[in-house]
Amino acid sequence: MPLALYPGTFDPFTYGHLDVLKRTLRLFDRVEVTVAVNAGKETLFTPEERVALARECAENLGPSVEVEAFRGLLVDRATERGAAALVRGLRQVSDFDYEFRMAFANRKLAPEVETIFLTPSEEHTFVSSTVVRDVHRWGGDVSKFVPPPVVEALREKRR
Ligand code: PNS
Repeated sequence: MPLALYPGTFDPFTYGHLDVLKRTLRLFDRVEVTVAVNAGKETLFTPEERVALARECAENLGPSVEVEAFRGLLVDRATERGAAALVRGLRQVSDFDYEFRMAFANRKLAPEVETIFLTPSEEHTFVSSTVVRDVHRWGGDVSKFVPPPVVEALREKRR
C-alpha cells in the first residue's frame, strides 16, 4: 500500500492544501500530512493547533489520510514510515527555485524517496498561508481561502 508524505508548515491549512491532498489520494493509497514543527519559521498557530486544524479539514477524506507532527529531517520521516514519495504543491514559477533546491537536497540524502510536484486547480493558484495570515491580520474575509475550521480558528485568534 504505497504511502506518500505531504509535508509542510500548514500555518494554516488552506483550500490549496486540501486540493493537493485530494490529488495525492488519486495516486496513493495512503497519505500522511506531515506537519513540520521545526521549519525555522515563526508561526501564528502552534504545532498542536496546525495538526488539529489539518485533521479537521481532512476528516471527510477518510482513514487513508493521517495528520502527524514531525520534528527533524523529512527524509528520515519518509524512511521511518516507508513512504515512497514526498508530495509538494507547485502553484507558480516563483515556487520552483525553492522547491527544486529542496527536492535535490532530499534526493542526495535519500535517493530512494521521490519528490512529486502537484499543481492545484487554478482557483487556488494564488492561495498561500502567507496571504491568509496577511488578510487575517488586516481584518479581511479569509473564507474563500481556508476551510471553515480555519476560519473559526482565525476568528478565535483575534479575540
Ligand atoms: O510549507 P513549507 O513551509 O513550504 O514547508 C517546508 C518544509 C516543512 C517541507 C521544509 O522546511 C522541511 O522539509 N523541513 C524539515 C527539515 C528538512 O528535512 N530539511 C531539509 C529539506 S531542504
